[in-house]
Amino acid sequence: METLGIDLGTRSYSIYVGQGLLQTLSSYLASRDTWVLITDDIVDRLYGERLIGEWKDSTMYRIVLPAGEDTKTLTRVEETIESMLNLGVTRSSGIIALGGGVVGDVAGFCASIYMRGIAYAQVPTTLLAQVDSSVGGKTAVNMPQGKNAVGSFYQPEVVVIDTTTLRTLPHRQLISGLAEVMKYGVIADYEFLTYLQEHLGAILALEDQVLERIVTRCCGIKAEIVAADEREAGLRRVLNYGHTVAHALEAVTKYGTYTHGEAVLIGMYLEAEMARKLGLLGHDDCSEILDLIQRLGSEVELEFKLEHSLLSNMVFMMGKDKKNRDGKIAFVLPIGAGQTREVLLTNKEAQSLLECL
Ligand SMILES: NC(=O)c1ccc[n+]([C@@H]2O[C@H](COP(=O)([O-])OP(=O)(O)OC[C@H]3O[C@@H](n4cnc5c(N)ncnc54)[C@H](O)[C@@H]3O)[C@@H](O)[C@H]2O)c1
Ligand SMILES: [Zn+2]
Repeated sequence: METLGIDLGTRSYSIYVGQGLLQTLSSYLASRDTWVLITDDIVDRLYGERLIGEWKDSTMYRIVLPAGEDTKTLTRVEETIESMLNLGVTRSSGIIALGGGVVGDVAGFCASIYMRGIAYAQVPTTLLAQVDSSVGGKTAVNMPQGKNAVGSFYQPEVVVIDTTTLRTLPHRQLISGLAEVMKYGVIADYEFLTYLQEHLGAILALEDQVLERIVTRCCGIKAEIVAADEREAGLRRVLNYGHTVAHALEAVTKYGTYTHGEAVLIGMYLEAEMARKLGLLGHDDCSEILDLIQRLGSEVELEFKLEHSLLSNMVFMMGKDKKNRDGKIAFVLPIGAGQTREVLLTNKEAQSLLECL
């Protein structure tokens, strides 16, 4: 097992990464008289029921949400909060968020507003949640007007990652998580990128040691970035590599065609090409990045060439991105050696660059 720390002053916490940690979950949590397990129906059947069945340390209530992105609504938050009030959950109780990013975001948001804020533990079970959403304290639900439009920065008390839960993850979800995994290599650690190239077979075969290693490295990178810039005033933006294109692609395809990770793969592909075109990224570096993206994409039969009409709609969406500045679209582009640069482009510039890739 690996233990990492995230240094946020009084809000600092530990991240435990290892195999089988769910079986001894209580030993990683603070002692509380009551816990509320918040999970989704799929994860509940796979892990929640057993956790509840074997829990002996204190009272544990359970709230099961429907699996899927549609659960990220204020209505679900209100229902969850009502259930907690009816169960008699107090300020000294804690929430355990067991599941993927959806559960983590909803449970984290509930924790942040219940009785002005109670403790919560992130226990992520998808690769995406283990390397990204469970660390850093961003919580949110969606609104008709936009994804993650309402939420809070609210750090968990602890993050407990059992990498063996990845064994039950559908292949498509695994590839989606790997998109974020490789993003860390591109933005912060080229040696890690090389490691991923060399160990992709072992990763896809879900070899325990390798999974533990990659999850640990990603959490380490994310923890460092968040510790330096908790509220995304500057450095945390590097995490947005691939995401300007990805968010626009997800929005114009109405969140129905691509998983987030698949959109990120396409986003990283196009943004690496943009960086090369702009002379920011050398040919060899670009090829190394594109090669791994394509290997991951081929696992889910992903097409990287997008039609012109789709690209135009995407640029229009990008023009409304919340990360934009000075009326320009902000891209975080790779410049090689694990570094990035933010580039601001007008709609017209972005359009012509994307069209000639
Ligand atoms: N807060 C943040 O910083 C942050 C960062 C990135 C993404 N997110 C959010 O995370 C969400 C996406 O998260 P996700 O990709 O984990 O999706 P998800 O939570 O919807 O999980 C994907 C599917 O996998 C199932 N599942 C979860 N664990 C499983 C397991 N071990 N075995 C089998 N099935 C399992 C779930 O039931 C679900 O059907 C999005 O809403 C996104 O906005 C938040
Ligand atoms: Zn992402």
